[in-house]
Amino acid sequence: MELVLRNARLHDNDYLVDIGISDGKFSEIKKNIADKGDEEIDLKGRFVSPPLVEIHVHMDAALTVGEPRYNLGGSLLEGIDIWSERKKTLTKEDVKNRVRKALKWEISNGVTRVRTHVDVCDPSFNALNALLEIKKEFKDYIDLQIVAFPQEGIFSYPDGEELMRKAMEKGTDVVGGIPHYEWTREDGVKDAIFAVSLGKELGKMVDLHIDETDDEHSRFVEVLAAETIKNNYLGKVTASHTTAMHSYNNAYAFKLLGWIKKAELNMVTNPLDNSVLQARFDTYPKRRGHTRVKEMDAMGINVSIADDSIMDPWYPLGLGDPLQAAFVFVHYGQMSGYNEMMRLIEMITTNPAKTFGAKDYGIKVGNPADLVVFDAPTAIDAIRLVSRRYLVIKNGNIIAQTKPYETNIFMDGKEEKIDFIK
Ligand code: FE2
Repeated sequence: MELVLRNARLHDNDYLVDIGISDGKFSEIKKNIADKGDEEIDLKGRFVSPPLVEIHVHMDAALTVGEPRYNLGGSLLEGIDIWSERKKTLTKEDVKNRVRKALKWEISNGVTRVRTHVDVCDPSFNALNALLEIKKEFKDYIDLQIVAFPQEGIFSYPDGEELMRKAMEKGTDVVGGIPHYEWTREDGVKDAIFAVSLGKELGKMVDLHIDETDDEHSRFVEVLAAETIKNNYLGKVTASHTTAMHSYNNAYAFKLLGWIKKAELNMVTNPLDNSVLQARFDTYPKRRGHTRVKEMDAMGINVSIADDSIMDPWYPLGLGDPLQAAFVFVHYGQMSGYNEMMRLIEMITTNPAKTFGAKDYGIKVGNPADLVVFDAPTAIDAIRLVSRRYLVIKNGNIIAQTKPYETNIFMDGKEEKIDFIK
């Protein structure tokens, strides 16, 4: 046995286990493994989960905040305008340098799978070419899925259909779309139909930005669900953002959720971006503008939480950490019940792993030894503290480590170490 991790807490169990790793795979998981192994690490009761999966992010725009200007109005549309200007100055090296940095942040945060959208409304394909090269460069550390994302529309941008096809021919993994941004309702319907049809033709998964607006009349998810069912492409299609669902009347939302379930759509919500982008046209009261996560989760629909942005025209903060997005969703989505917070951990691990199509995922004997150790004793503490990731292990190798920081308080002439644990 190459490595034995002692005293790990899985799933908030009230007992601790040891995890044995041999030949890059989990070989034993039980209390008190007798074998000493080549190396032993005592985790001292820290919470351990499978690696995080970043199922929705825009790596091509990462770290461009303020270039050429900041988004002062804060809306999605202003962000698209700023990006459209920045896009003109993209070079392959510019994109690669920013993506390398952002992916290393993701790895440090325990992420080993990333699905990135890449804007293909650019005949030079500078960003896409850069991401295709980075995918190879990072293959031993991050499994990168690339989505051909038509940021400025398929039918509202010159040669949009051709650009989508060319992007897929270059080796892109997933077909994207953006129906609510097309100029007309009719073009939006065509956008969703085109994406499912192209995905099915090429045997690729589909992931659309869809109904990312506060307009309750934006109803393209119903088209996506219907096309998925008609094409018998169940489980292969993802609907990202879907913020308009927040504003639908309940009768319509109830009907729609039934079609989403039947189509086995994977749903993705992005609390960091959408908490600042939505309701910018409201006075008071201001809507929260997120999709109906609790209701979908209760129905058994696969819902995931992801970052969306890392310091770009849409969201100026972020550090490539889905746990931070989950923390925000405790508040924004009122998921503060114990079971709800436990579900949030699933929404950044096992749920997006399913959407990603990850194979052999999870901490069980025989699977690749991939895991993340949080510097916190329980899952709830990990969320509360947005705790550092103590160790990130892939195929049995440590690929990231964060040394715990130490806080001391000085009172009454005494020094006391503070740990922020109850
Ligand atoms: Fe997005």
